[in-house]
This record gives sequence, structure tokens and C-alpha cells, in this order.
Amino acid sequence: MGSITIRQLDDDLKQRLRLRAARHGRSMEDEARTILRHAAALEQPGAAGGASERRGAPPPAEALVAPAPRSSVDSAAGAKRVLLIIGGGIAAYKSLDLIRRLKERGIAVRCVLTAAAQEFITALSAGALSGERAFTDLFDTASELDVGHIRLAREADLVIVAPATADLMAKMAGGHADDLASAVLLATHAPVLVVPAMNPYMWAHPATRRNLAQLAADGVAVLGPNAGEMAEAGEAGMGRMAEPPEIAAAALSLLRYAGVDKELAGKRVIVTSGPTHEPIDPVRYIANRSSGKQGHAIAAAAAAAGADVTLISGPVNVPDPVGVKTVKTETAQDMLAAVTKALPADVGVFAAAVADWRVEAPNASKIKKQGGGPPTLGLIENPDVLATVAHDARRRPRLVIGFAAETDHVIEHARAKLASKGCDWIVANDVSAATGVMGGDRNTVHLVTARGVESWPPQSKEEVARALVARIAETLAGAER
Ligand code: CTP
Repeated sequence: MGSITIRQLDDDLKQRLRLRAARHGRSMEDEARTILRHAAALEQPGAAGGASERRGAPPPAEALVAPAPRSSVDSAAGAKRVLLIIGGGIAAYKSLDLIRRLKERGIAVRCVLTAAAQEFITALSAGALSGERAFTDLFDTASELDVGHIRLAREADLVIVAPATADLMAKMAGGHADDLASAVLLATHAPVLVVPAMNPYMWAHPATRRNLAQLAADGVAVLGPNAGEMAEAGEAGMGRMAEPPEIAAAALSLLRYAGVDKELAGKRVIVTSGPTHEPIDPVRYIANRSSGKQGHAIAAAAAAAGADVTLISGPVNVPDPVGVKTVKTETAQDMLAAVTKALPADVGVFAAAVADWRVEAPNASKIKKQGGGPPTLGLIENPDVLATVAHDARRRPRLVIGFAAETDHVIEHARAKLASKGCDWIVANDVSAATGVMGGDRNTVHLVTARGVESWPPQSKEEVARALVARIAETLAGAER
């Protein structure tokens, strides 16, 4: 199969593809692939609006990439202003791309470059891309009279530090203010997103770990770093800066979080997400296919709506949502302990696919093959996290929401779970292999309550999350009226 060459599209189409990819948090190539997959699915005999209608007339590319209505995400960021502090690292070149990505989303960008950053990129290029002069000096008479570090700090709705070097993070953690970047960071009231990029050894160093912990305690959001190859030949590991689309998505989410329209402000929400791993021996475990995408999206959407969110996650490969306190767990027992510790809460959303059973006595050492055939694993039932919390008369959240992942008789099973688990709502979905829900990006859910069943249209997991959060906010507001 040949690769997709985006260069060969005309500029207008390319721009629309870029915006569409940005909205979905995908690369342009991935977005193009998704569009092609969708078109191919429509061409399948029997698909809605499929082959019979379209044979010989593939859907026009324009129609496929026509801009979707501006989402609330985009409009929420409408007049927002980001101050981008660019640190001195090889990843600084990606920050130039980040300026473009932010501007595409309707965000005004002002840049500050540290002295080290100017070894990699110039203030001229940052200024040209942002459309505003880029700032470099604390003691620059022109800029002090004109804007000044206090105004730079105050006029930002969000400050992003990318790349955040080990040195810049140390300065932030220590409260230094000996250059423009650190002075602005000390003077700002705006939320701060730090995007580290450094050599893996520097990232792993205890000093960096201490600084990171301090920044987290100070309420700074951290994105990445990712694992991958380093600029240094032959080196790889944890330390690559997050990609510009990821940073832009996190920025939008923080801007929404900082916005005025906080329908869940003052509410505490606990979300469980992902699978659990139940050990068989030190190297093997029982698990399931849950990716954690839906639960993590709910945590992010609740945080964006202003809630104080604790996400209790099983082992997943999706990033921690920004603006959320994430507690990492392995087993069902760990998950129950973490949830119990996080109580009380106004709302509990139990999206985790908790393993029903665990091995009664996991082997302390690796089980070896023996002549007598495979070992017999004695299983015992795990605690039911959702049912335990829902039946806790003293600390039950006002609204308890469970999930039901079913492969058949979806509604029937969901109704039974609503009763047996003692929750208020069940979000039920069909996870049979053909649906692609497990691990996929889309979901078709039914909201099952004592009042009846509501079937929601197929949508992305983020859209399901936003709709669920809107419903939660409405219900809490109704109960308070
Ligand atoms: N759940 C839980 N703890 C468990 C099992 C399930 O908290 N030990 C929660 C899930 O997070 C979900 C709901 O219960 O919100 C339903 O989970 P599901 O796996 O669909 O149901 P089970 O009770 O495990 O029933 P079954 O596997 O028989 O369908």
C-alpha cells in the first residue's frame, strides 16, 4: 500500500484537512486515512448510502473534508491569548509549528524566547509566525515601556512552556526570576502548561523528578514527554517533546477549563478507567482489551467543565488528561482502595473494565512448564468497585454512573446491572468485535436510567464524554433547584 502524500492536495483542501485533523487530534495523514476508510466503508454493499448510490461516483473530496461546524472547543478558545515561552532545546523548532497550530484554532499567540532558545531559533521567525513581536529581554527599555513582563504575564489566558528544559523547570520550581521567561512565569495568574523536552538521563535525574513534583504541587499542568529517538545520535528514551497537535489539544482543554462557563465548578468527580491487570505470577497477568479512551475522555470533559476530577486508572497507553488528578492502579483491589481514598465526591463515573476474577494465590516466582501439563489457576471474585461505592450508605456520591460493556442483549443486561449494582445510570454499549468499540475512537451508547432508555447516535468517545458531562451538570443543577 502506498503512503499518502498530502503535498499533492491544493492549498485550500490542505488547510481544511489540517483543521479537521486538528479537531480530531490526528496527524493529517491519519485524518486522510480515516476519510478514505470511511469512504471505503460507504462503498461496501449494504452500507447505508453505499455502493448502489455511489458506484462510479466517489464522494467529492470537498464534501469529505468540508469544515464541520465550529465546535464549542474552538469557539471557547475564540478570543483567547496564549503566551508561549520557548526554552533552549533542539525541540524549539517544533514550537514554531505549535504557533501555527494554535493560531489555526483561533488563539492569539505571543512568544518569549529564552537566551538559550535563541541558539536554536530566532525571535524574528517566532514573531513572523505569531504576527506579533517576540520578546527576549527582561531589561529591554523598549519592551518594558511598551509591554513589560508584568503585562506579558497578565495578558495571557494560558502560558505554555515548550520546550521546557530541565533548567527552566528547575527555575520555575525554585521561583527564580532572573530572565524574562522566569519573571513572567512568576508573575502570571494564568494556568501554566509545561511541555518538557530533554535527554532521558536528565529527565530521569532525581533533581528533575523533585522539580516536577514541585511543579505539580504548584498546580502546573505537565504534558509528556514522549518516548522516542533523541537528537543525540543513537540515543532513545523518555524525553521527546510532545507533538504540536497534542500540545494544541491540551491548550484548548486548559483554556476551556479556565473559562467562565464552568457548569461543574465546585463539584468533585471520580472516574475509573481502563482495564485492571490481575497477576498470575511476576510476569503474567489476566487483563482485557479496554483502552481507557472513554473513561479518560470523561475525566477530561468533566475537568473542562470545571470539576475537581480524580481519575483512577488501570494500566493504559493513553496520556493522562491535563487538569485532572490521575491515580495509577494495577488490580481491582488497588482500584477499590484508590476510589475509597478519593471519596467523598458528588459524582462517580465507573468506566473501568474491572477484571471480575483474580488468581487466588499468584505465584511468587515465574511458573515454569512442567511435565504434568498446564497449571490450574484457582480464581476468586474481585470486589465490585461500582457496587461497593453505590451501596455505601454513608459516602455514596449523589450521582453514581456505571458502564455496561456487552456483546449481546445490551439493553436487557444494562437494566439488570442498573438494579444489581445500585447505580443511577448505566451507559451501555455493544463491544462485540464487529463494532470496533474496544480500543477504537468511536462509541454508540444507550443511557439506561430508571426512567427509560435513550439511544445516542454513533459519535467519537470525546463527544460521548461531553454529552455525558452536560447531562450530569443538568441533573445536578436540577436537583439543586
Ligand atoms: N465494575 C466494577 N468492579 C467490578 C466489575 C465491574 O466497578 N469488579 C463496574 C464497571 O466499571 C462498570 C460496571 O461495573 O461500570 C459493569 O461492568 P461489567 O464488566 O460490564 O459488568 P460485570 O459486573 O463485570 O458483569 P459481567 O461481566 O457479568 O457482564
